[in-house]
Formats: sequence, C-alpha cells, structure tokens
Amino acid sequence: MTRPTVSYAIECAGLVKVYEGDPPVQAVRGIDLRVPAGICFGLLGPNGAGKTTTLEILEGLLEPTEGSVRVLGCSWEDGDSGLRRRIGVSLQETRLSERLTPRETLRLFRSFYGCGPSAEELLALVGLQEKADSYVRHLSGGQKQRLAVACALVGDPELVFLDEPTTGLDPHSRRQVWGIIASLRRQGRTVVLSTHYMEEAERLCDRIAIIDRGRVIAEGAPSELIAQLGGEHVIEIAAADSLPDHLDDLEQLASVRRVRRFQNMVQLTVSEPQEALEELLCYLRQRGIELQTLRARHASLEDVFLSLTGRTLVEADA
Ligand SMILES: Nc1ncnc2c1ncn2[C@@H]1O[C@H](COP(=O)(O)OP(=O)(O)O)[C@@H](O)[C@H]1O
Ligand SMILES: [Mg+2]
Repeated sequence: MTRPTVSYAIECAGLVKVYEGDPPVQAVRGIDLRVPAGICFGLLGPNGAGKTTTLEILEGLLEPTEGSVRVLGCSWEDGDSGLRRRIGVSLQETRLSERLTPRETLRLFRSFYGCGPSAEELLALVGLQEKADSYVRHLSGGQKQRLAVACALVGDPELVFLDEPTTGLDPHSRRQVWGIIASLRRQGRTVVLSTHYMEEAERLCDRIAIIDRGRVIAEGAPSELIAQLGGEHVIEIAAADSLPDHLDDLEQLASVRRVRRFQNMVQLTVSEPQEALEELLCYLRQRGIELQTLRARHASLEDVFLSLTGRTLVEADA
C-alpha cells in the first residue's frame, strides 16, 4: 500500500443534499469534515441522521446538492484521477452473489484491480479460510459482512469506507469485525465508518463526528467529547417514591457538574464519584428518600448525545 501522501484523507465543506420529491428531503444540511490521514474516523448518529448520504457523497457515488469534497487530495470532478482505485467501499447493504463462494467472489473483485492482496491473504485477514469454498448463501450474517469488508480491501486501498459494518450482527461477529477494522488502521489506512452504536464509535474511532438531522453537532476524540460533559462519571438514581421536583439542591453537592431528570431517573454528571456518592447518600437520608436504583458508571458517548439533543440514541433511532 502506498503511504498517505496528504495530511487530510477527506476534506469537505458546506455539504448539502436534498432528495427531490414531494416533499423534498433535506438529508444533509451543511456538513464540514476534515479527516486526518491514517486515523479511524466515525460518523455516529441515529437512523436517518444522514450518515449514508454523507458517505455516498464522499465515495463519489452521489452528487451533493451543494458543497465541495476532496478525497485523498483529489476531487471527484477531476475525471480519471485514479481516485476510485485508491479507495475501498463497503456499502450499508451489500448483495453478493449467493451462488459464488468467498474465494470466487474475492477473485472476481480482484480481477478489477491491477494489484492488491491475493484472495488467500484476504480470506485470512477476515478469518474466512474455513468458509472459502462454501456458497455465500450458506454464510452467516457476520461471515457475509466480513466478506463484504474483504471485498472493500481487494485494491489495497489507502482509504476504506465502511457503512454500518456491524449493524444486525451478533456480539461475537461484531467483535470479529472490530478486530478487522483495528487491523486496517494499524496498517496505516484511513478508515471512515458510520455507526449508530456509541460503544463501537468509542472503541474503534480516534475521532468522531456526531451527526443528527443532517448536521454535525459535535466533533472530536471520543474522550474529548466525553470530557466536555464536565464530569466523566454518571450516577443514576431512582427512588421508590418520586424524587423531589427541585433538583437544584443536588447541583450544590460536591463534584456534581450537572443534574438531569431522565425518564423516571435522575442523572448526575460528576467528576469524583466517591465524593459525590457520599454526599448524595447523606442528602437522601436526611430527606428520608429511599432509593430503588443506584448506578454509577463512566460517562459515554450516549451521554454526550443526550446532553446535546435531549434524546438518547435509541429514542432518536425510533
Ligand atoms: N434516495 C432517497 N430518496 C429520498 N430520501 C432519502 C433517500 N435516501 C435517504 N433518504 C432520507 O434521507 C435521510 C437521511 O438518510 P440516510 O443518509 O440514509 O441516513 P442514515 O444513514 O444516517 O440512517 C432520511 O430521512 C432518509 O429517509
Ligand atoms: Mg445509513
């Protein structure tokens, strides 16, 4: 693989996409992104946020209504810049021929490229050697997905796009795909993926853009975004009887940064969980409030999404 020659694998500005129709759909409403070469970059957002539309514009498969795109320093309008051969794409839904085997599928895809790893190397990379000669229709969802990722790698791409690479997979298959993605990044490739699983974004991505309703609402390293909450831990409580309406007092407790009512729970974002817990328990005892639930955990990207939108990712998906 040729090493990255540009500092940004992707630069796009002012991307807008309106799907014509009645009524028209504003899928992307002004997206700017800069993806440094060599990192794993994630678009995190609920269903319908505009992730696939954005990816397909970057992949040169869809024309933006407005905005500019540079991929590996080239523009899709430059004509035959060789750009297509330098990227690999795994679409949200890949329909591979059911009557071919993984080995045959990869040989077919390879025949479109002048170079790149052999079918055997790709089968080994995605752990499909044992299924190399089974029909695609006999593969599990996770195995098909790994084959789709292998197909994106046939041209030894500098930049790989993976649209929802683990959606619908069981936890074991998901981990296998995570392992493949981590290895792509170690090989020095740039990976751009979309996901609506915050855990996946947090685990795999060096940087993410959180996308909601066609816009980037936050961008940065997952740890930076979580740190911006002001506290890196969350304490959640629910009481047997309802908790008092006035939560201002809770904000006064040591190390509590923010208090939010969420469904029947109260969530405290705190910097020092032990300190906050001691004060909280004392507060509740003084008021005779009996707890039904008490949970303390690390803050996650889910909390970032909630604090930015007032919805959880799961609610936003529905
Ligand atoms: N071909 C299309 N025609 C009309 N609307 C579309 C089309 N593709 C996607 N959309 C709409 O655009 C919005 C963004 O979709 P999409 O980019 O697929 O989001 P995501 O990948 O984040 O789920 C959604 O409201 C979706 O229904
Ligand atoms: Mg999508």
